[in-house]
Amino acid sequence: MINRRNFIIGAAGLVSATQFPALSLARTSSTELELIAGPAKKKLFRPDAEASDVWAYNGEVPGPEIRVRKGDRVRVRFTNNLEEPTSIHWHGIRIDNAMDGVSGLTQEAVQPGASFVYDFEVPDAGTYWYHAHNKSWNQVGRGLYGPMIIDEPERPFDSSHDITLVLDDWRLRRPGVLDTESFGSLMDWSHGGRLGNWITVNGGAVPVTALKRGEAYRLRLINAANARVFEIDPNRFDAKVLAYDGQALSEPISLAYAPAMLGPAQRMDLLVVPQENFALEEVSSDDPFVMAEFKVEGVATAAVTAPAVAINAIPEPDIANARRVKVLMEGGAMGGFVEITYQGKKLQGEDVQSTRQTWAFNGVANLADDPLFVAERGQTIIIETINRTAWVHAMHVHGHHFRVISRSGSEVDEGKPWRDTFLIGPNQTTEIAFVTDNPGKWLYHCHMLEHAAAGMTTWFTVA
Ligand code: C2O
Ligand code: CU
Repeated sequence: MINRRNFIIGAAGLVSATQFPALSLARTSSTELELIAGPAKKKLFRPDAEASDVWAYNGEVPGPEIRVRKGDRVRVRFTNNLEEPTSIHWHGIRIDNAMDGVSGLTQEAVQPGASFVYDFEVPDAGTYWYHAHNKSWNQVGRGLYGPMIIDEPERPFDSSHDITLVLDDWRLRRPGVLDTESFGSLMDWSHGGRLGNWITVNGGAVPVTALKRGEAYRLRLINAANARVFEIDPNRFDAKVLAYDGQALSEPISLAYAPAMLGPAQRMDLLVVPQENFALEEVSSDDPFVMAEFKVEGVATAAVTAPAVAINAIPEPDIANARRVKVLMEGGAMGGFVEITYQGKKLQGEDVQSTRQTWAFNGVANLADDPLFVAERGQTIIIETINRTAWVHAMHVHGHHFRVISRSGSEVDEGKPWRDTFLIGPNQTTEIAFVTDNPGKWLYHCHMLEHAAAGMTTWFTVA
């Protein structure tokens, strides 16, 4: 776990910029944004520490914030200046399948030196992100991700009241330099994934943001970590939840069950009307880790009313006529013996070492020739996921949002909100429901990126 004593933060206020260098997109269909993936240097730790070797979009970690409006057409010319193939996935966007960016499934990976134009419409407002989708455990883990914010037609919070906070954890070796040797460690793949020992927000340590007392702010939290579940308690600073995974709730809610678990790839928008200075903390240990600080200034005037966030229209699942699909999750450390089929072959003895496949869905590791299921367009699918492993997982459906309709165990989501990624604890069974309204080939995988690579990935098709 994060041991704060190993990493004592120096003076606060070292990093003050929480605003992104935003790419602005003119509202014409011919405008292209440019993203270039390549190696870069980045100080992840204290300013006096060495810079790390990272991989970045346009030289930045996180990559530039892409900010567009609901219904816009987005064109991104992407160039790969890495030494290995890659592609970009637009996480949470109910996107045209050909633009989903999954290397080997929806497109050929973009080769070193080559380009690809992503061209798609964004149907929903909200907080999304983009990230590499080839060897994600390595490419995302080195910094290939960035926020994508889709504004409502009438923007409820102006730019000074709308703050994006991209969380990541990094495994640093002294003196504060990214540990690149341990990428791909089998230990990580079969246990809890690659966990770090240092948290950054927007690529820096403990950014400090000035807020005005008594005004309403939207904080958009994005978990870009490979495997860490951040535990966050919005009640500590009287914040309410506005949205999960990009989708606004019918009204802001105060959490009855705190802290909230923000799993890999999940997002949570908070509404805060600050009265006093506060910190955004990771509270899973006895000694909370301060991730970001907020200095509250000025004198509160009259009580503010927080602007309402518009709700996206997503087709409601028809539970009574749903088709059921079961996914049994097995494998990993402490999971006992599991028979695993990989690329049509039962793994035996040394095979596990050489293929690195240690997890399976219904006995199959990674993508088989046949999809998990073939759905018709407009069908309601219930996926019942049974976690028979000793680990927590963060399951993500591509191209669709779903409702969590039932969950064994104690975690509760008030009001069955729409999500694109859900957490499932050891020995839990969770049912999600969604309408397959988006044709194409879609992944269903664990967003703990080492787990995904080590077997926890499957796919389905919508005709
Ligand atoms: Cu955000 Cu298949 O991933
Ligand atoms: Cu997992």
